[in-house]
Amino acid sequence: MPRATPVLGPAAVDVTLDVNGHARAIHIRPQRTLLDALREDLGLMGAKKVCDEGTCGACTVLVDGRPVYACMTLAVATAGRAVETVEGLAHDGGLHPVQEAFIAHDAFQCGFCTPGQIMSVVALLRARPDVTADDVKRAVTGNLCRCGAYPNIVAAALAAAKRKK
Ligand code: FES
Ligand code: FES
Repeated sequence: MPRATPVLGPAAVDVTLDVNGHARAIHIRPQRTLLDALREDLGLMGAKKVCDEGTCGACTVLVDGRPVYACMTLAVATAGRAVETVEGLAHDGGLHPVQEAFIAHDAFQCGFCTPGQIMSVVALLRARPDVTADDVKRAVTGNLCRCGAYPNIVAAALAAAKRKK
């Protein structure tokens, strides 16, 4: 009986990602998501894998300053673009002002959605330092929080915006 020809996926390729300002060379299959590349190839576990299908926002990272779902983004498509994860926010041993505000305002419970929430707020405040509560709510509309921490998330974002002014 003839043997079935195995179906082979595309061969792995070399790609260099710019993650948090560092060039990171990896060897991956073209269909690998940015989320899997970050977590499994680069050991950056900040972006969380929850739904893995673009519905929760726990995997939110910034690509060229814009929030994207890393689970819905091909890693190879981000070559040559600036990828930022929550691990890249702290500098010189100090947390980013948005991270500090989340702590000060108790803006999380389980914390699973928190890295994604923070990246969405960081992108918002970079683009528009003068924000309202509605702006913040719109910015985190793609970040689901099943713990219901939204009031404190909005308060934290407004406090960080105020500090930035
Ligand atoms: S893990 Fe990416 S949107 Fe849920
Ligand atoms: S703090 Fe638990 S899901 Fe948001």
